[in-house]
Formats: sequence, C-alpha cells, structure tokens
Amino acid sequence: DDFEGRGVWRYADALPLDSGVTTQEGATPLYEVPRLENDVGVEALRIKHEGMNPTGSFKDRGMTVGVAVAKELGVDRLACASTGNTSAALAAYGSRGGMETLVLLPAGKVAAGKIAQASLHGARILEVDGNFDSCLDIVQELAARGEAYLLNSLNPFRLEGQKTIGLEILEAFRDDYGAFPDRIVLPVGNAGNTSALYKAFRELVQVGDLPLEDVPKLTGVQAAGAAPMVEAIENDADEVRRWDDVETRATAIRIGNPVNAPKALPGIRETDGTAVAVSDEEITDAQRDLAEEGIGVEPASAASIAGLRKLRADGVVTDDERVACLTTGHLLKDPDAAAAAGSDPQPVPNDTEGVLEHLHE
Ligand code: F0G
Repeated sequence: DDFEGRGVWRYADALPLDSGVTTQEGATPLYEVPRLENDVGVEALRIKHEGMNPTGSFKDRGMTVGVAVAKELGVDRLACASTGNTSAALAAYGSRGGMETLVLLPAGKVAAGKIAQASLHGARILEVDGNFDSCLDIVQELAARGEAYLLNSLNPFRLEGQKTIGLEILEAFRDDYGAFPDRIVLPVGNAGNTSALYKAFRELVQVGDLPLEDVPKLTGVQAAGAAPMVEAIENDADEVRRWDDVETRATAIRIGNPVNAPKALPGIRETDGTAVAVSDEEITDAQRDLAEEGIGVEPASAASIAGLRKLRADGVVTDDERVACLTTGHLLKDPDAAAAAGSDPQPVPNDTEGVLEHLHE
C-alpha cells in the first residue's frame, strides 16, 4: 500500500520520490465558514484544516516524504526536536517504516495528546529541561555526530512534502472560484510551511501554471510572546533575532529561533505578504470562532484566524480579498486548552426530575 496517486502522492511529479512511507496523508478538507467570513468581512474565507491528517497535523505531509528518504538511505534511527506534533508524526511514520525514533521535547511544554501519540507509536522520548530551541540545538548536534537522521523542518525533504498544502489550496480555489486565493494566512513557528509554500509557488510560476501576479500573499501569524519573525518583518531586518524567553498558550509555536527564516523572510516579502502577532486571548477567541463553525483546532492553529481578524481590522487585508487560513493541528492535540476555552460540565442528580429541575433553574 503506497497510497499511490492519492493525497500528498497525487503530486508525486513535484516530489523527490514516486511513493513514500504512508498512512494516507493529505487531501484535507477546505471548509467554507460563512458566518466567520461575514464577521471578518472578506470576499471569501476558507479553512484548510491540516488537523484532518492521520496524526492530526500537517507534519504527516512532510514525514511521508522525509521518512521514505531516510529509509532509502538505510538509516537506523530518526530524530527530531519538537513542540509535540513533529514528534507524534515522526513516531508514527518512523514506526511504520520500521525505524527507531528519538524525540527531544521541552519538559512541561508539550500538549497531552501529542506526548500520548509519540509514546504509543514507540518513540524514545527525552524531556529536556529547556525550551524547543535548545532541543533543536541538541538534536542537530546529535545528527552532526552521526547518532541519528534529523527530521525537523531543516530537512529539505520534509518541506517538499509540505509544498502539497499550497498545491491543494491553489487547485481548490481555481476550481471553485476560477481564481487563486489573494492571500494565505498561516501560523508560524520554525517557518517551515512558509518556506514550503513559497517554494511551491516559485515552482508553479516557473512551469507556467501560476501567473506571477496571482501568487498569494504569504501572511504569517505568531503569538505575541514568541514573535521573532514579526519583529524582523516590522523592522525590515535581514536576519531574525533569536528570542531566548518565549511564552504562549499556543505551545506548538512557542519558538524563539525560527530556523527556516532565511527562506521564509523572502517568501513573505516577495509575495507582498506580512507578519503579525496576536495575544493568547485573541488566539482563544479564534479557537472558539472556529469551534462555532464546527471546526476543532488546537491553539496554534487558531492564530491564523486571530491574525486575519487583526489585519482586517487594521485595513491591511481588504474586503475584496479571497483568503485561505491554514489550521495546522486538531483540537484533540491539546485537550486541556480546549476544555479551558469551552464550557464546564454541570453535575446533576441521577434521575430525570433532578435533571429537569437543573435545566429549568
Ligand atoms: N502549527 C502547529 C500545530 C505546529 O505544530 C507547528 C510546528 C506550527 C504551526 C508551526 O509551523 O514551523 O512550519 O512554522 N510545530 C513543530 C513541532 C515545531 O515540533 O511540532 P512551522
């Protein structure tokens, strides 16, 4: 079962291999959200829900390619640093590919669902007394010393797989509206997706499938407590300054040193996009907005909607735009955040009269 010709592998022509180690990733839904679209005030708004991938995040698109390459190379042990989702995907795909997996996580800063996945899929989990950026420093050093094959987004094969997010969005907009989206809004951590989407656009332009003037504006959103990319865009800086202290409820993007910045900054600038920071409160509100439309996402994912709202309010996004927002991970990844953002269960007695009394209170 190589899932040939479907999902991510429908785009094999744009990938370095014909088939991968697969659990049927990609081909995720692109939801209409009429109430939210109206509320935000844009011509069209669609939600590309990457939480609908097999392990619940976009990381699967990268792993199906990256793990297959590792297998071809005859590697024994795969490793990553992770805020959670990468570790879940690596554990699942590595296991399926018959390889050992090692994951380094920032202690106390990874959501419960993600650790559970890495654990059950058989990863060796090391909890580091430091943040994600320290974990990535260490795992890069381990890889350099030949201890493991690195599968963070520094691995170019992973980003090849993640290009397919952009390809699916562009195809769907073309088919539904006869036009490509004006803007794609996405949460930014290490800026892997930003880099991958930009590469996908450049390749489409090169082969003549995307007119240069139709390239969507890449618009990155970070949590205010971890916003080094936003800082660089706002200051028109050539390099991103590493933030040593980062904090946000959106633990997936609690990252102070976006390693793909050299590829992502040109992506944002050349497409006439921008970057914006949002507060944790704005993120939680956006999580509720999406939940109201029946779409369950983890906090980092909701950042895209929060960012879009802010840019629309500031007039940076105009009312005639067709926008795709990327939601990167599923609600169940972070059950604690979901429960905190939602309503509390109400205790009732074990009889109908008691329940009715409670309802009519
Ligand atoms: N959203 C979610 C849910 C993520 O898990 C991540 C990254 C991002 C957004 C940021 O994406 O790095 O391409 O800008 N998570 C990594 C991990 C760091 O370890 O799971 P990016």
